[in-house]
Amino acid sequence: YTKIAAIYADSEQLGGQTVTVGGWVRTIRDMKTFGFIELNDGSCFKNLQVVMEAGTLANYKDIAAQNVGAALIVTGTVVLTPEAKQPLELKAASIEVEGTSTPDYPLQKKRHSVEFLRTIQHLRPRTNLFSAVFRVRSVAAYAIHQFFQERGFVYVHTPIITASDCEGAGEMFQVTTLDLQNLPKNEDGTVDFSQDFFGKPANLTVSGQLNAENFAMAFGDVYTFGPTFRAENSNTQRHAAEFWMIEPEMAFTDLKGDMDVAEAMIKFVIRQVMAKCPQELAFFNSFVDKGLLERLEHVASSDFGRVTYTEAVEILEKHNDQFDYKVSWGCDLQTEHERYLTEQVYKKPVFVTDYPKEIKAFYMRLNDDGKTVAAADCLVPGIGEIIGGSQREERLDVLEARIKELGMRTEDYWWYCDLRRYGSCKHAGFGLGFERLVMYLTGVSNIRDVLPHPRTVGSADF
Ligand code: 4AD
Ligand code: MG
Repeated sequence: YTKIAAIYADSEQLGGQTVTVGGWVRTIRDMKTFGFIELNDGSCFKNLQVVMEAGTLANYKDIAAQNVGAALIVTGTVVLTPEAKQPLELKAASIEVEGTSTPDYPLQKKRHSVEFLRTIQHLRPRTNLFSAVFRVRSVAAYAIHQFFQERGFVYVHTPIITASDCEGAGEMFQVTTLDLQNLPKNEDGTVDFSQDFFGKPANLTVSGQLNAENFAMAFGDVYTFGPTFRAENSNTQRHAAEFWMIEPEMAFTDLKGDMDVAEAMIKFVIRQVMAKCPQELAFFNSFVDKGLLERLEHVASSDFGRVTYTEAVEILEKHNDQFDYKVSWGCDLQTEHERYLTEQVYKKPVFVTDYPKEIKAFYMRLNDDGKTVAAADCLVPGIGEIIGGSQREERLDVLEARIKELGMRTEDYWWYCDLRRYGSCKHAGFGLGFERLVMYLTGVSNIRDVLPHPRTVGSADF
């Protein structure tokens, strides 16, 4: 079958030719002697207008009685219609019904709320909004691979199941084969994990970073791009229990080099999506976020802001009257502060660097002041944090002291410490939340609407 995308792309050649298309009915209008079907086959955002005539189609009555959602196979002539609203149509010579639909098909031609569409996750990819979101998601994922591959990064598959807690936040989903009704216990009453599948507690990974570091110390520049899991009890528009993360890790690179790569990557992905998804972006710009195109254009062509945490806190403290949670040095920045900085102060993406060590993970490199670490979070308007990154602690003694200080066990990280024993070097990396990037690229404001099948607190259907 010919794809609708190919018909639009090669319309010059295909004008007057006969093609066969398989697709689903978006709308159908019966004017008794003739009728129109808008057909969508998923190959592109646009529908194909099919024109049918009672005089030429033996089964006209049967076709005209089909419901929205039916699957049809249409053979006909491509007719160029330069004066009409759509540049071409398909004049049907024959139409076969592959699969019927019913009048109560949930996706009738009207605007459905995103809340309603979340209840029919199996059908929502057939709507304009979700068709556009998931095509942009696919193009953005490919662009990320392209960005790193063109720069010689090696793609590493990091494990989904792990015994470590990279972020040290304890927000992990445990993986076990033990009978939860009848857990084996040690003498002191704690669970005896020696009888479990892995012989110790295991969990779904919160980040592939530590494994990526192992590979960066062999390949230099690597990245991982895969699902990550957080049992955070945050029921917000930007937290999911299962989300995808892009994590590059680069040897012989400091924090500035890290931010330069992050900034170049985001700009590259924006340009790729603008080049490959113009119809999808025009749709978002009209129906989801009026300023989207202008914003993406601006972000792709201007420098991101860079500010230290200490400077950011000085700026934010002046506006404490506007915040629910008052800012002072040492506090973790909340979404309201992140958004204020990037939306009111910078009006563009901004990296905040050098956070207090107390609010960041164990692996971040301690700065000379002994109080802050070489971290860089990238904040963007409308969302807040989309990237968390840092230069890693490459000094064995400093790392071990930090692990102990946090009450973690150096034995559990013997392999991670080994990297500092054998050819340690300065290195850095970051994690980009892929869904948050897709939200940024589309203007969609809820993470549930950029995940094909969202898993969030209280919801793991489908
Ligand atoms: O800031 P985070 O926790 O950093 C790390 O995991 C580092 N190990 C990354 C690294 O340096 N290799 O998470 C990174 C990003 C966040 O900035 C955010 O975009 C996204 O992952 N993220 C989430 N996205 C959706 N739902 C959640 N629950 C998320 N938690 C983090
Ligand atoms: Mg973070």
